[in-house]
Amino acid sequence: MTLFLCSSNAFPFLSLHSDSERSFTSRTLRNVSLFSMAPHQPFSGLVFEPFEELKHELFLIPSMPDQSIARQRFSDDCEAALNQQINVEYNVSYAYHAMFAYFDRDNVALRGFAKFFKESSEAEREHAEKLIEYQNKRGGRVNLNSILMPLSEFNHYEKGDALNAMELALSLEKLTNEKLLNLHDIAVKCNDVHMKNYIENEFLGEQVEAIKKISEYIAQLRLVGNGHGVWHFDQMLLNG
Ligand SMILES: [Fe+2]
Repeated sequence: MTLFLCSSNAFPFLSLHSDSERSFTSRTLRNVSLFSMAPHQPFSGLVFEPFEELKHELFLIPSMPDQSIARQRFSDDCEAALNQQINVEYNVSYAYHAMFAYFDRDNVALRGFAKFFKESSEAEREHAEKLIEYQNKRGGRVNLNSILMPLSEFNHYEKGDALNAMELALSLEKLTNEKLLNLHDIAVKCNDVHMKNYIENEFLGEQVEAIKKISEYIAQLRLVGNGHGVWHFDQMLLNG
């Protein structure tokens, strides 16, 4: 059986004025669209053959238990790139965790910085988890790779530890942004509209905000200088 879809474009002679007229016509068109018509009499030229097309889709549903059932138009390149980005997020999370451990030391005791870097570490881990969930949603397979050992000392003879760590944080955020933009490029190249929109809506905006915030912190730390200025800045991070 062949069905033909009919739209209002198929009835250009209709001029609708009121809601009730439009509602009536909509119902009528819906009924007309359900009529079975001969293949050589199309209204719009748009032929919908549900049962023929479904045969193809049914054929494509995997039956092997280790294969994703939901996967559709999700390329291997996108799957691999998502796994790489998950690894980036975990590495950044680990680096922030090392900063938290440093500023939490009894002989460093900048509790505001410790709190800031701990929250940053948790945020990056959440990013990794979001990407894991997205990978699964699209029917990809999550592969977790190794995490590199981060620095454990953050003091700098000229900048001190607070400014030095914040500059490292900025470079981490900019690197993450570069990687996210690369991930976005791959989604575009693969014509994966959903993944492209997901990265734009869930990651790119937040990344730009993070870069701006940390840049401001660096400017302020340069202004206040080391010692007493850093202590005040730390109080702001602790209570802010
Ligand atoms: Fe992130």
